[in-house]
Amino acid sequence: MAVIGVLAAAIATAFAVVIQWLPESASEEMDRYVFVFWFATVICIGIFAVVMAVLVYSIWAFRAAPDDDTDGPPIHGHSGLEIVWTTIPAILVIAIGIVSAVVISRNADAGENPLTIEVYAQQFAFYYTYPDADDARSEELVLPVDRAIRFELQAADVIHGFWIPEMGQKQDLVPGVTTKIVITPTRTGNFSLICTELCGLGHATMRGSVRVLTQAKFEEWLAGLRDDAAPGAGTETGGGTSADAAGAKVFASAGCGGCHAFTAAGTDAEIGPRLDDLAASADKAGKPVADYVRESIVEPGAVLAAGYADGVMPTTFGDVLKPEEIDALVQYLAGKEAP
Ligand code: CUA
Repeated sequence: MAVIGVLAAAIATAFAVVIQWLPESASEEMDRYVFVFWFATVICIGIFAVVMAVLVYSIWAFRAAPDDDTDGPPIHGHSGLEIVWTTIPAILVIAIGIVSAVVISRNADAGENPLTIEVYAQQFAFYYTYPDADDARSEELVLPVDRAIRFELQAADVIHGFWIPEMGQKQDLVPGVTTKIVITPTRTGNFSLICTELCGLGHATMRGSVRVLTQAKFEEWLAGLRDDAAPGAGTETGGGTSADAAGAKVFASAGCGGCHAFTAAGTDAEIGPRLDDLAASADKAGKPVADYVRESIVEPGAVLAAGYADGVMPTTFGDVLKPEEIDALVQYLAGKEAP
Protein backbone atom coordinates (compact mmCIF):
# COMPACT_ATOMS: atom_id res chain seq x y z
CA MET A 1 0.00 0.00 0.00
CA ALA A 2 2.88 2.34 0.82
CA VAL A 3 4.41 1.67 -2.61
CA ILE A 4 1.14 2.58 -4.36
CA GLY A 5 0.86 5.75 -2.26
CA VAL A 6 4.42 6.86 -3.08
CA LEU A 7 3.83 6.12 -6.78
CA ALA A 8 0.58 8.14 -6.82
CA ALA A 9 2.26 11.03 -5.01
CA ALA A 10 5.16 10.97 -7.49
CA ILE A 11 2.81 11.07 -10.50
CA ALA A 12 0.74 13.92 -9.00
CA THR A 13 3.90 15.85 -8.06
CA ALA A 14 5.22 15.48 -11.61
CA PHE A 15 1.95 16.95 -12.94
CA ALA A 16 2.20 19.87 -10.54
CA VAL A 17 5.88 20.60 -11.18
CA VAL A 18 6.50 19.78 -14.86
CA ILE A 19 3.59 21.81 -16.22
CA GLN A 20 4.01 25.50 -15.52
CA TRP A 21 0.53 26.31 -14.22
CA LEU A 22 1.22 29.91 -13.23
CA PRO A 23 3.16 32.67 -15.01
CA GLU A 24 6.50 33.66 -13.50
CA SER A 25 5.71 36.00 -10.63
CA ALA A 26 6.52 39.70 -10.99
CA SER A 27 4.97 41.10 -7.81
CA GLU A 28 4.93 40.53 -4.05
CA GLU A 29 1.19 39.87 -4.23
CA MET A 30 1.69 37.18 -6.88
CA ASP A 31 4.43 35.60 -4.71
CA ARG A 32 1.82 35.19 -1.96
CA TYR A 33 -0.71 33.70 -4.37
CA VAL A 34 1.95 31.25 -5.56
CA PHE A 35 2.53 30.27 -1.93
CA VAL A 36 -1.21 29.58 -1.43
CA PHE A 37 -1.23 27.58 -4.68
CA TRP A 38 1.59 25.33 -3.49
CA PHE A 39 0.22 25.10 0.06
CA ALA A 40 -3.09 23.77 -1.29
CA THR A 41 -1.42 21.63 -3.96
CA VAL A 42 0.87 19.85 -1.48
CA ILE A 43 -2.12 19.04 0.74
CA CYS A 44 -4.03 17.77 -2.30
CA ILE A 45 -1.12 15.55 -3.36
CA GLY A 46 -1.01 14.03 0.16
CA ILE A 47 -4.75 13.28 0.20
CA PHE A 48 -4.61 11.95 -3.37
CA ALA A 49 -1.76 9.59 -2.48
CA VAL A 50 -3.57 8.18 0.59
CA VAL A 51 -6.87 7.71 -1.29
CA MET A 52 -5.20 6.08 -4.30
CA ALA A 53 -3.15 3.76 -2.07
CA VAL A 54 -6.24 2.50 -0.20
CA LEU A 55 -8.37 2.31 -3.35
CA VAL A 56 -5.91 0.47 -5.59
CA TYR A 57 -4.86 -1.89 -2.76
CA SER A 58 -8.51 -2.70 -1.93
CA ILE A 59 -9.42 -3.40 -5.54
CA TRP A 60 -6.51 -5.82 -5.78
CA ALA A 61 -6.57 -7.44 -2.31
CA PHE A 62 -10.34 -7.81 -1.77
CA ARG A 63 -11.45 -8.66 -5.29
CA ALA A 64 -14.00 -11.52 -5.50
CA ALA A 65 -13.39 -14.66 -7.55
CA PRO A 66 -15.31 -14.71 -10.88
CA ASP A 67 -17.69 -17.44 -9.65
CA ASP A 68 -18.25 -15.90 -6.19
CA ASP A 69 -21.93 -14.85 -6.02
CA THR A 70 -22.18 -14.68 -2.23
CA ASP A 71 -22.90 -11.47 -0.30
CA GLY A 72 -19.99 -9.75 1.39
CA PRO A 73 -19.61 -9.92 5.18
CA PRO A 74 -21.99 -7.51 7.01
CA ILE A 75 -19.88 -4.60 8.32
CA HIS A 76 -21.30 -1.88 10.53
CA GLY A 77 -18.57 0.69 10.13
CA HIS A 78 -15.70 2.00 12.21
CA SER A 79 -16.26 5.04 14.43
CA GLY A 80 -12.53 5.66 15.01
CA LEU A 81 -11.82 5.71 11.27
CA GLU A 82 -14.75 8.05 10.61
CA ILE A 83 -13.60 10.51 13.27
CA VAL A 84 -10.08 10.51 11.77
CA TRP A 85 -11.19 11.03 8.16
CA THR A 86 -13.51 13.84 9.19
CA THR A 87 -11.12 15.63 11.52
CA ILE A 88 -8.00 15.65 9.33
CA PRO A 89 -9.69 17.10 6.20
CA ALA A 90 -11.52 19.66 8.38
CA ILE A 91 -8.20 20.83 9.85
CA LEU A 92 -6.61 21.01 6.37
CA VAL A 93 -9.51 22.99 4.86
CA ILE A 94 -9.50 25.41 7.80
CA ALA A 95 -5.72 25.81 7.36
CA ILE A 96 -6.16 26.67 3.66
CA GLY A 97 -8.90 29.13 4.65
CA ILE A 98 -6.70 30.86 7.22
CA VAL A 99 -3.68 31.07 4.89
CA SER A 100 -5.91 32.51 2.11
CA ALA A 101 -7.48 35.08 4.44
CA VAL A 102 -4.03 36.25 5.61
CA VAL A 103 -2.81 36.53 2.00
CA ILE A 104 -5.90 38.43 0.85
CA SER A 105 -5.61 40.88 3.71
CA ARG A 106 -1.86 41.43 3.18
CA ASN A 107 -2.37 41.84 -0.57
CA ALA A 108 -4.89 44.61 0.08
CA ASP A 109 -2.47 46.54 2.30
CA ALA A 110 -0.61 49.29 0.45
CA GLY A 111 1.68 50.07 3.40
CA GLU A 112 2.93 53.48 4.51
CA ASN A 113 3.92 55.26 1.33
CA PRO A 114 2.22 53.88 -1.76
CA LEU A 115 2.35 55.48 -5.20
CA THR A 116 -1.17 56.22 -6.40
CA ILE A 117 -2.11 55.72 -10.04
CA GLU A 118 -5.61 56.31 -11.38
CA VAL A 119 -6.79 53.88 -14.03
CA TYR A 120 -9.62 54.69 -16.42
CA ALA A 121 -11.22 52.14 -18.68
CA GLN A 122 -13.62 52.71 -21.51
CA GLN A 123 -14.55 50.76 -24.58
CA PHE A 124 -11.89 49.71 -25.63
CA ALA A 125 -8.80 51.13 -23.98
CA PHE A 126 -7.14 51.83 -20.65
CA TYR A 127 -5.43 55.05 -19.72
CA TYR A 128 -3.73 56.25 -16.56
CA THR A 129 -3.20 59.46 -14.67
CA TYR A 130 -0.37 60.06 -12.22
CA PRO A 131 -1.32 62.37 -9.32
CA ASP A 132 2.43 62.64 -8.53
CA ALA A 133 2.95 64.22 -11.96
CA ASP A 134 0.21 66.87 -11.75
CA ASP A 135 -2.37 64.37 -13.00
CA ALA A 136 -0.51 63.89 -16.26
CA ARG A 137 -2.06 61.24 -18.44
CA SER A 138 -0.34 58.28 -20.04
CA GLU A 139 -1.58 55.62 -22.42
CA GLU A 140 1.10 53.24 -21.22
CA LEU A 141 1.19 51.92 -17.68
CA VAL A 142 4.68 52.56 -16.30
CA LEU A 143 5.52 51.37 -12.77
CA PRO A 144 8.52 51.58 -10.44
CA VAL A 145 9.96 48.33 -9.15
CA ASP A 146 9.83 47.46 -5.41
CA ARG A 147 7.30 50.08 -4.45
CA ALA A 148 3.68 49.45 -3.47
CA ILE A 149 1.31 50.99 -5.99
CA ARG A 150 -2.27 51.70 -5.12
CA PHE A 151 -4.49 51.69 -8.18
CA GLU A 152 -7.78 53.56 -8.15
CA LEU A 153 -9.91 52.19 -10.93
CA GLN A 154 -12.84 53.78 -12.73
CA ALA A 155 -14.88 52.83 -15.78
CA ALA A 156 -16.56 55.33 -18.08
CA ASP A 157 -19.18 53.08 -19.64
CA VAL A 158 -19.49 49.38 -18.79
CA ILE A 159 -17.73 46.91 -16.49
CA HIS A 160 -14.12 46.15 -17.46
CA GLY A 161 -11.49 44.00 -15.75
CA PHE A 162 -7.91 44.91 -14.81
CA TRP A 163 -5.43 42.03 -14.81
CA ILE A 164 -1.67 41.71 -15.28
CA PRO A 165 -1.21 37.91 -15.15
CA GLU A 166 2.38 37.99 -13.81
CA MET A 167 1.29 40.30 -10.99
CA GLY A 168 -1.66 38.22 -9.88
CA GLN A 169 -4.02 40.92 -8.68
CA LYS A 170 -7.27 41.26 -10.61
CA GLN A 171 -10.05 43.79 -10.14
CA ASP A 172 -13.18 44.90 -11.97
CA LEU A 173 -13.71 48.51 -12.99
CA VAL A 174 -17.34 49.41 -12.38
CA PRO A 175 -19.06 52.58 -13.64
CA GLY A 176 -19.90 54.90 -10.74
CA VAL A 177 -17.63 53.14 -8.25
CA THR A 178 -13.92 53.61 -7.56
CA THR A 179 -12.39 50.21 -6.93
CA LYS A 180 -8.91 49.72 -5.51
CA ILE A 181 -6.09 47.25 -5.87
CA VAL A 182 -2.47 47.10 -4.66
CA ILE A 183 0.48 45.81 -6.70
CA THR A 184 4.15 45.82 -5.68
CA PRO A 185 6.26 44.92 -8.73
CA THR A 186 9.38 42.86 -7.95
CA ARG A 187 11.16 42.82 -11.31
CA THR A 188 11.61 45.17 -14.25
CA GLY A 189 10.40 44.28 -17.71
CA ASN A 190 7.46 44.45 -20.08
CA PHE A 191 4.12 42.87 -19.28
CA SER A 192 0.64 43.01 -20.69
CA LEU A 193 -2.55 44.19 -19.12
CA ILE A 194 -5.71 42.37 -20.09
CA CYS A 195 -9.36 43.36 -19.81
CA THR A 196 -11.11 40.37 -18.23
CA GLU A 197 -14.77 41.30 -18.52
CA LEU A 198 -16.67 40.86 -21.78
CA CYS A 199 -17.25 44.57 -22.40
CA GLY A 200 -18.40 44.79 -26.00
CA LEU A 201 -17.34 44.08 -29.57
CA GLY A 202 -13.78 45.28 -29.02
CA HIS A 203 -13.21 43.36 -25.76
CA ALA A 204 -10.62 41.05 -27.32
CA THR A 205 -8.57 44.06 -28.45
CA MET A 206 -8.65 45.71 -25.03
CA ARG A 207 -5.09 45.10 -23.94
CA GLY A 208 -2.47 47.46 -22.64
CA SER A 209 1.25 47.41 -22.18
CA VAL A 210 2.91 47.63 -18.79
CA ARG A 211 6.53 48.63 -18.27
CA VAL A 212 8.27 48.22 -14.91
CA LEU A 213 11.34 50.45 -14.48
CA THR A 214 13.96 50.90 -11.78
CA GLN A 215 12.97 53.65 -9.33
CA ALA A 216 15.50 56.13 -10.78
CA LYS A 217 14.35 55.51 -14.36
CA PHE A 218 10.75 55.78 -13.23
CA GLU A 219 11.33 59.19 -11.64
CA GLU A 220 12.94 60.30 -14.90
CA TRP A 221 9.98 59.03 -16.90
CA LEU A 222 7.53 60.70 -14.51
CA ALA A 223 9.33 64.04 -14.86
CA GLY A 224 9.12 63.70 -18.66
CA LEU A 225 5.42 62.95 -18.46
CA ARG A 226 4.88 66.02 -16.26
CA ASP A 227 6.74 68.24 -18.74
CA ASP A 228 4.81 66.81 -21.69
CA ALA A 229 1.53 67.58 -19.98
CA ALA A 230 2.51 71.14 -19.07
CA PRO A 231 0.77 73.88 -21.09
CA GLY A 232 2.69 74.82 -24.24
CA ALA A 233 4.42 71.47 -24.38
CA GLY A 234 4.63 69.70 -27.69
CA THR A 235 5.70 72.75 -29.68
CA GLU A 236 9.31 71.68 -29.44
CA THR A 237 8.57 68.72 -31.68
CA GLY A 238 8.77 71.34 -34.40
CA GLY A 239 6.90 72.75 -37.37
CA GLY A 240 3.57 71.62 -38.74
CA THR A 241 3.93 68.07 -37.51
CA SER A 242 3.27 68.89 -33.84
CA ALA A 243 -0.50 69.09 -34.32
CA ASP A 244 -0.45 65.77 -36.12
CA ALA A 245 1.69 64.27 -33.37
CA ALA A 246 -0.81 65.49 -30.76
CA GLY A 247 -3.68 64.01 -32.76
CA ALA A 248 -1.85 60.73 -33.22
CA LYS A 249 -1.24 60.59 -29.47
CA VAL A 250 -4.94 61.08 -28.71
CA PHE A 251 -5.85 58.50 -31.36
CA ALA A 252 -3.61 55.99 -29.58
CA SER A 253 -4.52 56.85 -25.99
CA ALA A 254 -8.28 56.96 -26.59
CA GLY A 255 -8.07 53.51 -28.17
CA CYS A 256 -9.52 54.53 -31.57
CA GLY A 257 -7.29 51.98 -33.30
CA GLY A 258 -8.91 49.17 -31.30
CA CYS A 259 -11.98 49.50 -33.56
CA HIS A 260 -11.04 51.58 -36.60
CA ALA A 261 -8.68 51.09 -39.52
CA PHE A 262 -6.70 54.24 -40.23
CA THR A 263 -3.75 54.02 -42.57
CA ALA A 264 -1.90 57.01 -41.10
CA ALA A 265 -1.94 55.36 -37.67
CA GLY A 266 -1.22 51.89 -39.07
CA THR A 267 -4.34 50.31 -37.54
CA ASP A 268 -6.52 47.76 -39.31
CA ALA A 269 -9.36 46.85 -36.91
CA GLU A 270 -12.78 46.26 -38.48
CA ILE A 271 -15.26 46.84 -35.66
CA GLY A 272 -16.02 50.39 -36.79
CA PRO A 273 -15.81 52.00 -40.24
CA ARG A 274 -12.48 52.83 -41.91
CA LEU A 275 -11.32 56.39 -41.27
CA ASP A 276 -9.26 56.85 -44.42
CA ASP A 277 -11.91 58.56 -46.53
CA LEU A 278 -13.74 60.86 -44.15
CA ALA A 279 -13.98 63.65 -46.73
CA ALA A 280 -16.23 61.49 -48.91
CA SER A 281 -18.40 60.54 -45.91
CA ALA A 282 -18.68 64.20 -44.88
CA ASP A 283 -19.68 65.05 -48.45
CA LYS A 284 -22.41 62.43 -48.35
CA ALA A 285 -23.67 63.81 -45.02
CA GLY A 286 -23.54 67.34 -46.49
CA LYS A 287 -21.22 68.74 -43.82
CA PRO A 288 -17.75 70.29 -43.73
CA VAL A 289 -15.30 67.49 -43.00
CA ALA A 290 -14.06 68.93 -39.67
CA ASP A 291 -17.62 69.37 -38.36
CA TYR A 292 -18.53 65.89 -39.52
CA VAL A 293 -15.53 64.32 -37.80
CA ARG A 294 -16.15 66.23 -34.57
CA GLU A 295 -19.81 65.21 -34.53
CA SER A 296 -18.90 61.57 -35.16
CA ILE A 297 -16.54 61.58 -32.17
CA VAL A 298 -18.87 63.30 -29.72
CA GLU A 299 -22.19 61.93 -30.98
CA PRO A 300 -21.40 58.73 -32.88
CA GLY A 301 -25.04 57.92 -33.61
CA ALA A 302 -25.76 61.15 -35.52
CA VAL A 303 -24.66 59.83 -38.91
CA LEU A 304 -24.06 56.11 -39.30
CA ALA A 305 -21.79 54.63 -41.95
CA ALA A 306 -23.53 52.04 -44.10
CA GLY A 307 -23.37 48.59 -42.53
CA TYR A 308 -22.53 49.80 -39.00
CA ALA A 309 -24.96 49.76 -36.07
CA ASP A 310 -25.74 52.50 -33.59
CA GLY A 311 -24.67 52.06 -29.97
CA VAL A 312 -21.39 50.27 -30.64
CA MET A 313 -19.08 53.26 -30.36
CA PRO A 314 -19.03 54.79 -26.86
CA THR A 315 -20.85 58.11 -26.57
CA THR A 316 -18.58 59.26 -23.75
CA PHE A 317 -15.66 60.69 -25.74
CA GLY A 318 -17.09 64.19 -25.49
CA ASP A 319 -16.73 63.97 -21.69
CA VAL A 320 -13.62 61.86 -21.45
CA LEU A 321 -11.40 63.81 -23.83
CA LYS A 322 -10.37 67.38 -23.14
CA PRO A 323 -11.54 69.97 -25.73
CA GLU A 324 -7.98 70.46 -27.00
CA GLU A 325 -7.61 66.71 -27.38
CA ILE A 326 -10.75 66.55 -29.50
CA ASP A 327 -9.43 69.47 -31.60
CA ALA A 328 -6.17 67.64 -32.18
CA LEU A 329 -7.97 64.42 -33.04
CA VAL A 330 -10.31 66.17 -35.48
CA GLN A 331 -7.35 67.82 -37.20
CA TYR A 332 -5.47 64.53 -37.31
CA LEU A 333 -8.39 62.63 -38.86
CA ALA A 334 -9.80 65.34 -41.11
CA GLY A 335 -6.48 66.90 -42.07
CA LYS A 336 -5.25 63.69 -43.68
CA GLU A 337 -7.81 64.14 -46.43
CA ALA A 338 -6.41 67.43 -47.68
CA PRO A 339 -4.68 66.86 -51.03
CU1 CUA B 1 -13.00 46.06 -21.46
CU2 CUA B 1 -13.30 43.72 -21.98
